[in-house]
Amino acid sequence: MKSVLLWALLLLTPAVQAAGDAEAGQAVFSKNCGGCHKVGPGAQAAFGPELNGVIGRTAGSTSDYSYSAEMKNSGIVWTPEKIAAFVEGPSDVVPGTKMRLWWFGNEQKMADLLKYLESHP
Ligand code: HEC
Repeated sequence: MKSVLLWALLLLTPAVQAAGDAEAGQAVFSKNCGGCHKVGPGAQAAFGPELNGVIGRTAGSTSDYSYSAEMKNSGIVWTPEKIAAFVEGPSDVVPGTKMRLWWFGNEQKMADLLKYLESHP
């Protein structure tokens, strides 16, 4: 019996860790992204482009922001995985981008952040 429970725990733990929480993600966003990006009703370009609906959006496609040519021509369609990679190393994903960021979060914070972005279609 004990070993069955242990197995159940082992199997469940990774799923629990990978699940993001949008509410927790709001704090991650405001600390790490909010200085340059806005989301939510009426969000507009700031130092960086607004991020409403960024998941599924073509890179460099909002109309009120002046992107780098590299971002505009990257041909990326933003998925959660692409965004995570871009946040972890902006110029690894888009060489020449003007986004500068040093990410010190962990996997859980990233999952929360992505859920938060997902909650702003
Ligand atoms: C210091 C300012 C700054 C911070 C902090 C920052 N960004 Fe950016 N971000 C930018 C700029 C500037 C661009 C435009 C890059 C370009 O045109 O090359 C950008 C572009 C982006 C894009 C592409 C959007 C599009 O319309 O194609 C995504 C996605 C993005 N940022 C996500 C994030 C996330 C998520 C965070 C927080 C973890 C973050 N950024 C933090 C400045 C910032």
